[in-house]
Amino acid sequence: NGGAVDAKNLRVKLVLLGDSGVGKSCIVLRFVRGQFDPTSKVTVGASFLSQTIALQDSTTVKFEIWDTAGQERYAALAPLYYRGAAVAVVVYDITSPDSFIKAQYWVKELQKHGNSDIVMALVGNKADLQEKREVPVQDGIDYAEKNGMFFIETSAKTADNVNQLFEEIAKRLP
Ligand code: GTP
Ligand code: MG
Repeated sequence: NGGAVDAKNLRVKLVLLGDSGVGKSCIVLRFVRGQFDPTSKVTVGASFLSQTIALQDSTTVKFEIWDTAGQERYAALAPLYYRGAAVAVVVYDITSPDSFIKAQYWVKELQKHGNSDIVMALVGNKADLQEKREVPVQDGIDYAEKNGMFFIETSAKTADNVNQLFEEIAKRLP
């Protein structure tokens, strides 16, 4: 139409949920700083980081990321972080069936108490540990599809699919 380029700048509150040790903080560190910490400490309460990405159509998306603590003692704090969140990223560890069950718990919790239009992603992390895999990729795909979620397997260690995770979320924003 010959008009000005239509640039949009979005700000998105995103919460990460999932069992302790699945790699939530490492995914965030990889996305925000491009680093991996093999000695990552458990998160206490929650931590906050932000990162802006540019999409092809010159939209920018600023993710305001709440990285919650997965240890059971912090479970009661989770609503403080997922309430009002536009996006929830539920993470499990592909080597841990227990963490996959815990992920399903968080999905149900979000369906009951999260924003009605929340965008949800299911992430199977530690995809570099193929030889220790205990959650078949198809189980993740099937569960995500049943629950209207976006699904991806990532490795915070190798960086595989970490940027893609956030790019795909950005594309799915209402
Ligand atoms: P909480 O803060 O307690 O909820 O845990 P978390 O989900 O934030 O886990 P964190 O990111 O601290 O990672 C836990 C452990 O898993 C650390 O030793 C990481 O180095 C390791 N880790 C995280 N992501 C990966 C990955 O993609 N591959 C491998 N091999 N190890 C990973
Ligand atoms: Mg953490």
